[in-house]
Amino acid sequence: MATSNSPFLSLIIFLSIPLLSHSEPQLSLDYYKATCPDFANIVTETVTTKQIATPTTAAATLRIFFHDCMVDGCDASVLIAPNKFNKVERDNELDHTLPGDGFDVVTRTKTALELACPMTVSCADILAQVARDLVVMVGGPNYPVLLGRKDSLASQLNDVEPNIPQPNMTMDHIINLFESKGFTVHEMVAVVGAHTLGFAHCSEFADRLYHYDKSTPTDPDMNPKYAEALKKFCSNYTKDPTMSAFLDLYTPGKFDNMYYQNLLKGLGLLSTDQMMAEDPRTRPFVERYAANQTAFFVDFAEGMQKMGTIDVKTGDEGNIRRRCDVFNTVRT
Ligand code: HEM
Ligand SMILES: *[C@@H]1O[C@H](CO)[C@@H](O)[C@H](O)[C@H]1NC(C)=O
Ligand SMILES: *[C@@H]1O[C@H](CO)[C@@H](O)[C@H](O)[C@H]1NC(C)=O
Ligand SMILES: *[C@@H]1O[C@H](CO)[C@@H](O)[C@H](O)[C@H]1NC(C)=O
Repeated sequence: MATSNSPFLSLIIFLSIPLLSHSEPQLSLDYYKATCPDFANIVTETVTTKQIATPTTAAATLRIFFHDCMVDGCDASVLIAPNKFNKVERDNELDHTLPGDGFDVVTRTKTALELACPMTVSCADILAQVARDLVVMVGGPNYPVLLGRKDSLASQLNDVEPNIPQPNMTMDHIINLFESKGFTVHEMVAVVGAHTLGFAHCSEFADRLYHYDKSTPTDPDMNPKYAEALKKFCSNYTKDPTMSAFLDLYTPGKFDNMYYQNLLKGLGLLSTDQMMAEDPRTRPFVERYAANQTAFFVDFAEGMQKMGTIDVKTGDEGNIRRRCDVFNTVRT
């Protein structure tokens, strides 16, 4: 190299050796700059069309992204469709309610990207970028998305249960689970603010209404009027399992801090949502976000960036899938 006699350059090269061999994944903001320069525009265009036609897409996709990252990292393992070759993540009951519109927006985006730059953009990166664009579209904060994830070569049913939080878990359990993925309690409270969007099936909170404990059928932490309304609304849920209620009672389609304001009034839907307003470890953050939407947006944006880097695969640890719902090696 012409400049190799520069002592500064040699110093930089010398210093960067230990940095490059470090196990931190090599993600970057401009990963597709040369290979797929229209990447960001193509994603935004596809996502906008889909979200306008089907407004539940934002919540659907955000939840799928969360389930992807928590289980073996953000590697599109959640996108593999159930098939006759092996049991995959989506065969686990916890993933049965992942909504079709979230998978659909990824498929549409992948199709558009394959036309523009074939076999170049990973499904894991698509999911991360699509989720961010949708958050912005429904009024949430913008944040940069690092790129360069590879897609997983595996997707296993048994990896789901230990890694996905459930509404009947204790706060200790939930905190441990998030800490095992690198989140502080503070960051955890911020990312669960995603429940400002979307809905939950009655079966996910029915115990709070009808079978709380021996002394009372209904969770005393739930606002009594809200509890009465939900009991009526869900009364037929065993016969009609599709019955669902909004996670944010007042503004379920808007990304805002109303979710935290609700929690302070006993209007949390899932047990774990309401517990965040009761537990002394989490309550201060709930109060802060309820009072200050900017503070919520700043911390949510940081939390989502952290989520997007959980156990990502780079280099030979994965590949670029041709289709997001099928491994490349499988012939159909
Ligand atoms: C304490 C941790 C969490 C628990 C226990 C939990 C549990 C749940 C449950 C049970 C549902 C309802 C699913 C259904 O009935 O169809 C749900 C919905 C949802 N969750 Fe979570 N979740 C947690 C954290 C998160 C995080 C960190 C995110 C994303 C950053 C997230 C995003 C969503 C979204 C957007 C929905 C609505 C989906 C829709 O309307 O299609 N959740 N969650
Ligand atoms: C939570 O409920 C599920 C069934 O919905 C059950 O399999 C699981 O054991 C329960 N977990 C806890 C911690 O109670
Ligand atoms: C309860 O759900 C079943 C199954 O969808 C339906 O046939 C029935 O009419 C519902 N009953 C009420 C009171 O809504
Ligand atoms: C709200 O939070 C932001 C971000 O942390 C901070 O800059 C601002 O001063 C806060 N506003 C109030 C009224 O406390």
